[in-house]
Amino acid sequence: MKRVITYGTFDLLHYGHINLLRRAKAMGDYLIVALSTDRFNSVEKNKKCYFSYQQRKAMLESIRYVDLVIPEDGWEQKKEDVHLYHIDIFVMGDDWEGKFDFLKDEGVEVVYLSRTPEISSTQIKNDFKSRDDADISRIFTDDMK
Ligand code: CTP
Repeated sequence: MKRVITYGTFDLLHYGHINLLRRAKAMGDYLIVALSTDRFNSVEKNKKCYFSYQQRKAMLESIRYVDLVIPEDGWEQKKEDVHLYHIDIFVMGDDWEGKFDFLKDEGVEVVYLSRTPEISSTQIKNDFKSRDDADISRIFTDDMK
């Protein structure tokens, strides 16, 4: 059984996240998502989340590609996690290209998947901040054409 792990915040879950999770799961049999805690996001990543850890966790657990959600509460835990969870493949989006190559020394395959273009949690937040209702609905209508 091939075990895959990926890390992230997954706030305002969107299709870019789903694409990443689908491709990560397809690389093995069991997918673990290490989900950034609220403390880790605010104190160490300087990221403000819309949804709480428990809310983000519940959404991830309802996705068919995700087998287990564990907390990510520090930058240093990856080395331990890959042994603790018997990981074969470590997967991240290519915005992290090269950043976790050191895990290869732990006997893990490290893969960076291409990001889905033009969508991110930050983008969604900015769109809703800067556009009025008419503009927002146009985004969805365009997408359905
Ligand atoms: N991801 C992706 N394609 C996107 C957005 C995210 O493949 N369009 C991937 C990231 O590369 C990462 C995972 O999804 O491996 C979780 O990313 P996260 O940072 O939580 O999502 P973003 O939407 O990028 O959030 P933010 O804008 O806050 O950085």
